[in-house]
Amino acid sequence: MSGGEAARDEGVCAADGSAVTVREMTEEDVPAVAALEQVLFPVDAWPERFFRQELSQTGTRRYWVAEGAVQESAVQEGAVQEGAVQEGTPHDGAAQLLGYVGLMCVPPFADVQTLAVARAGRRRGLGRLLLRTLIEEGRDRGAEQVLLEVRIDNHGAQHLYRGEGFSVIHTRRGYYRDGCDALIMRLPLADLEAPTSASRLRSPDA
Ligand SMILES: CC(C)(COP(=O)(O)OP(=O)(O)OC[C@H]1O[C@@H](n2cnc3c(N)ncnc32)[C@H](O)[C@@H]1OP(=O)(O)O)[C@@H](O)C(=O)NCCC(=O)NCCS
Repeated sequence: MSGGEAARDEGVCAADGSAVTVREMTEEDVPAVAALEQVLFPVDAWPERFFRQELSQTGTRRYWVAEGAVQESAVQEGAVQEGAVQEGTPHDGAAQLLGYVGLMCVPPFADVQTLAVARAGRRRGLGRLLLRTLIEEGRDRGAEQVLLEVRIDNHGAQHLYRGEGFSVIHTRRGYYRDGCDALIMRLPLADLEAPTSASRLRSPDA
């Protein structure tokens, strides 16, 4: 079973062995997700209506949330008090929203629309789990490559992406609202030089 298939099951384990649920994001999750977004992306957080628009485009989008218990050490560090994790969720009094990820897929391209893990849930393998869930779905939908943008100063996220096989293909100067550059990273899911690949389809005379 691939990582993605495992993640799409209801009860899965984070890398540290703690129980985590990865499930499809619903409209009911949007307020909590948007609140977490505000904390984690202070420069360009998406408002609730963006998430609702995304969820409504079921043909090309798919979003997931990760829920689970907050580590005791994180509580002691005060990580939950910064608003990164809500006190309970509409779904389960014990489960906390720990992260979310969003896919846009119009084959042959899949895009990571967003990926975030609450500070209290980090370095437990959740980011990797969510990313693999997205990649697997992109593959199932016929994507030949997964693309994403990441801030040039976001070294932690870049490390995660490189570890999953992404590499930098381009830099977009001043892409973010505060003027920060974006790295465009790509994960090939197929042989992009093969005759049937997207690159050849876009230039049939080549
Ligand atoms: C980037 C982010 C999603 C990573 O989530 P996470 O759950 O902590 O990541 P994981 O535990 O799955 O990490 C997997 C691997 O990625 C790398 N990694 C993750 N965070 C890292 C960091 N801060 N520094 C260095 N490497 C890091 C490591 O190789 C890690 O493996 P290891 O813990 O065995 O060393 C999280 O830090 C986050 O939400 N950041 C704020 C929002 C954001 O930047 N989103 C990405 C936008 S492009």
